[in-house]
Amino acid sequence: MALTTIDVPSLEKLSTGKVRDIFALPDPSTLLFVASDRISAYDVILANGIPNRGAILTLASAHWFRLLPSLLPGLRTHFLSLDVPATVPAAAAPSLRHRSMQVRKLRILPVEAIVRGYLAGSGWKEYQRAGTVHGIALPEGLRECERLPTGPLFTPSTKAPQGEHDENIHPDEVAALIGEKYAARVRELALSIYQAAADYALERGIIIADTKFEFAVDDATDEVVLADEVLTPDSSRFWDAATYEAGRDQDSFDKQIVRNWLVANGVKGKEGVVLPEDVCNATEARYKDVF
Ligand SMILES: Nc1ncnc2c1ncn2[C@@H]1O[C@H](COP(=O)(O)OP(=O)(O)OP(=O)(O)O)[C@@H](O)[C@H]1O
Ligand SMILES: [Mg+2]
Repeated sequence: MALTTIDVPSLEKLSTGKVRDIFALPDPSTLLFVASDRISAYDVILANGIPNRGAILTLASAHWFRLLPSLLPGLRTHFLSLDVPATVPAAAAPSLRHRSMQVRKLRILPVEAIVRGYLAGSGWKEYQRAGTVHGIALPEGLRECERLPTGPLFTPSTKAPQGEHDENIHPDEVAALIGEKYAARVRELALSIYQAAADYALERGIIIADTKFEFAVDDATDEVVLADEVLTPDSSRFWDAATYEAGRDQDSFDKQIVRNWLVANGVKGKEGVVLPEDVCNATEARYKDVF
């Protein structure tokens, strides 16, 4: 059974995103993130969810939060624990298992720290139109999904208020949003985390084409801290290295079955669509594969 709404008796819900709900905890320096099984495709949330998707997203983030500091000494993250908080009533605890994460509550920097290793999505669209990606000039003649000959690029966007679309910006514009000092650190961290993760994934047959990080400032120490979700299928493009080929669109590792079904049934972008059970089960299997 997929879990599409989450309420935790005894905890105040602070906000609801497309996928995750955020709850206050008795310790005001912490937050509880709970990932539901909701899934969106073509910018619309579907009526039913994908069983275990919330757990897979949570455990994927937790894996990276634990792994990355060992690969990148000096990296700090907001991750505290996967334990269900002791204040959650026993009857509600099982439904939170594997999908809740306690994190440190921090001041989020208003920039989406995107890194692209390959030419896909909005980067490919801009390149076709203007020969640039986020205003960065690239050599002529690159193909769709080609590996960037420049090496991975830091290609940030604004973090738009809910309901509005993020806007791609040139890396030099980040300083105006968050200040020179934090901008330099965000760029350095984003590129080094992407590289470490991309190497790790490629050894396991997965290309991380691009990904989006969010960073926060710990006001107690003035350090820039990795926050939000990290290197999940929702924040990243994962491709199968065995079937990858530049010059065409790549199948998405996770949502392709859902997208194909929506298109084939003429309901792409429509509200309230219910996915048939076999599509949900096949999608769940894909998530387990990539995990
Ligand atoms: N450690 C943290 N402290 C405070 N806020 C955080 C922390 N980590 C992440 N956040 C913020 O919590 C929110 C998480 O919301 P979530 O990602 O679930 O939904 P959303 O970003 O509003 O929508 P979407 O579903 O499109 O991502 C984001 O605004 C994120 O910046
Ligand atoms: Mg988000």
